Amino acid sequence: MVAIVTGGVRGIGYAIAESFAAAGADLIVTTTREPESSSDELARLRSYGTKVMAIRLNVADKAEVSEKLPEAVKEMGGVDILVNNAGITRDGLLLRMSEKDWDDVLSVDLKSSFNTIQAVLPFMLRKKAGSIINISSIVGVNGNPGQCNYAAAKAGLIGMSRSLGKEMGPKGIRTNCIAPGFILTDMTSGMPEKLVEEWKERIALRRPGTPCDVAGVALFLASDMSAYVNAQVINCCGGM
Ligand code: NAI
Repeated sequence: MVAIVTGGVRGIGYAIAESFAAAGADLIVTTTREPESSSDELARLRSYGTKVMAIRLNVADKAEVSEKLPEAVKEMGGVDILVNNAGITRDGLLLRMSEKDWDDVLSVDLKSSFNTIQAVLPFMLRKKAGSIINISSIVGVNGNPGQCNYAAAKAGLIGMSRSLGKEMGPKGIRTNCIAPGFILTDMTSGMPEKLVEEWKERIALRRPGTPCDVAGVALFLASDMSAYVNAQVINCCGGM
C-alpha cells in the first residue's frame, strides 16, 4: 500500500501519516519547506519500517503538482490512497476581505485537490482501485462568520468529493470527505482563549479534538473496512 498525505509532517496530516505508517503503508508526504527541516518528524515516520518519501510541493501550483507527484508515484511503484490534507486559513469578514485572501484560500484548500487528484487518478485507474480522502471542515458544512473563504473552499471540497465518488465509483475508486470540528493544531493554536471556551461549550463531548481523532477516521476510510463507503462526508467533531 502506498499513501500520499499532503502537508503530512505536522498537525492532522502528520497524525494521519503516522497512523498509516503504523498500519504498514509506504508514504509520500508533501512539505512546504525543504524536507530536511522536518527531519525529526520524518525519522519518526520511518521508525515504523515502511518507505517514506518526502517531497517539497506547493499543492496550489497545478504545473508543479503535475510534474512532481506522478514522478514520486512512479518511484514508489503506484499509489492506493490520497489524502488531501493541506490547508490554510485567512480569516476576516467578507465585507473587508482582500481578493488575495479569497484566492489564496480557494487555491490551497480547494483547487489543490483538483491538482493532486488529476495527477494520481491515472495510476488508480490502472489498478481499478483507490481511496481518496479529502479533509474538509465542519465549517464547510455549517458555515462560520469570519471564514467565508474557508467555508466556500471546504464546502466546495464536499461537492467535489460527492461528485467524484459518483464518477469514479464504477472504476473502483472511492472518494470521501472528513469534516473535522475543532482540533488542536497550529491552525487553531492562535485562537483567543475566550473563543476556545465558546467552541468547547458547543461540543457535546466537551473537549477539542486531537489530530489522532481525525487520523482514526482517515485510517478507516483508507482501509477495506470502509469498502462500501463512497461519496460521503464523515463529521469528526465530537457532536458539535
Ligand atoms: P496545520 O496548519 O498544522 O497544517 C496545514 C498543513 O498544510 C501544513 O502541513 C502545511 O505545510 C500544509 N500546507 C499549507 N499550504 C500548503 C501548500 N500551498 N502546499 C502544500 N502544503 C501546504 O493545520 P491542521 O489543523 O493540521 O490542518 C490540516 C487540515 O485540516 C487543513 O485542511 C484544515 O483546513 C483542516 N481542518 C482543521 C481543523 C482544525 O481545527 N485544526 C478543523 C477542520 C479542518
